[in-house]
Amino acid sequence: MEILDVILQAYLDNHCDPEPDALQTINRETYLKVLKPHMLSGHYQGRVLSFLSKIMQPKRILEIGTFTGYATICLAEGLTDDGEIHTIEVNREMEEMLNSHFKLTNVEKKIKLYFGDAAQIISDLPYTDFDLVFIDADKKNNYTYFERVFDKVRHGGLIIIDNVLWKGKVYGAENDADTQIIRKLNDQVAADVRVEKLILPIRDGLLIIRKK
Ligand SMILES: C[S@@+](CC[C@H](N)C(=O)[O-])C[C@H]1O[C@@H](n2cnc3c(N)ncnc32)[C@H](O)[C@@H]1O
Repeated sequence: MEILDVILQAYLDNHCDPEPDALQTINRETYLKVLKPHMLSGHYQGRVLSFLSKIMQPKRILEIGTFTGYATICLAEGLTDDGEIHTIEVNREMEEMLNSHFKLTNVEKKIKLYFGDAAQIISDLPYTDFDLVFIDADKKNNYTYFERVFDKVRHGGLIIIDNVLWKGKVYGAENDADTQIIRKLNDQVAADVRVEKLILPIRDGLLIIRKK
């Protein structure tokens, strides 16, 4: 998942804020108990998400792809006192673990957890004022999610999409189906005049999109 040199990544990890205790526990539990634990955002990307959220001071956040709740909690750190984060996960087997993870934090009451297919749940959400959206579920549907959330994000709001550098394959010679899908997403967003966009080359690539 990491595209940065390991020595550089270690330096970055050691020169940003430490991982809060609850997140350290969730990180460890995820690696001990869950398949594909590398899917969690982790220390450095988690601090980036937290930082962006704190700058935005959002009242309403949407996350697509909850997994073990790591990024949910990072994003929730920037919410206003009356703010809330809506997070969607297709795998109901995560419910017990998620509830126990959220209990470890002081943002538990701000988290609204939905189980089911994200495309349908997004369409049913009655909000048009999301300040921040984090898309991090099944990659083949990234552009569908982007389109479905677009009218639900306020002007000036952020949409962040994870894994857009796809282990570096998008700018290499690879041409497998998954790489083509991510490349197409990046090209579509790059050509979209409704938004400003910037790819941060951290972890597996974070695409930051600001709705004009
Ligand atoms: C990369 S993980 C999310 C990691 C998490 N955002 C974090 O940073 O810690 C992707 C998650 O999306 C979920 N997912 C996959 N397809 C989905 C769908 N169609 N609707 C909702 N969730 C989905 C998976 O079950 C998995 O838990």
